[in-house]
Amino acid sequence: MRIAVYPGSFDPITNGHLDVIRRAAKVYDQVVVGVLDNISKKPVFTAEERCEMIRMVTADIPNVTCDRFNGLLVDFAKQKQAAVIVKGLRTVADFEYEFQMALLNKALDPEYETMFMMTDTKYSYISSSMVKEVAKYHGELEGLVPSKLIPKIKEKYNKMDGSF
Ligand code: PNS
Repeated sequence: MRIAVYPGSFDPITNGHLDVIRRAAKVYDQVVVGVLDNISKKPVFTAEERCEMIRMVTADIPNVTCDRFNGLLVDFAKQKQAAVIVKGLRTVADFEYEFQMALLNKALDPEYETMFMMTDTKYSYISSSMVKEVAKYHGELEGLVPSKLIPKIKEKYNKMDGSF
């Protein structure tokens, strides 16, 4: 069984991430989305909330699961019995950092291959940071994140209003 891990912060998951998950699920028997549970990154959503949102929008893809992880990605991949790490590339700007991470992961454990998937051009401008910026100022989130998540994201920002 070919298991792949798709890691990230997913704070929150965007339409670009979801596109990569859907496509990876066609290539691999199982895709485990790994949500980095790292409070030093100061995420807006808790790791559980981020995983819950991912589960909501991938409920129709039977071979996708979501789990939180802490520590090294290669250790999480081992724990999940995955042989492949999937990463999405939006633009060449992503390449340098992703290339470095892939080489580091290879140095940490040569067992793992990183497979890059080009993000669909229609999503190439979307990032979780941009989504948060738009949400903070109550802008239109349609098209940036799965529609189902918009009320959840708005609710979070409404609660946070005044705390920026
Ligand atoms: O969505 P992000 O924040 O760009 O994802 C980054 C992530 C989670 C893939 C990366 O930070 C990661 O793999 N962190 C786990 C710690 C680790 O293994 N570090 C060494 C390789 S960079």
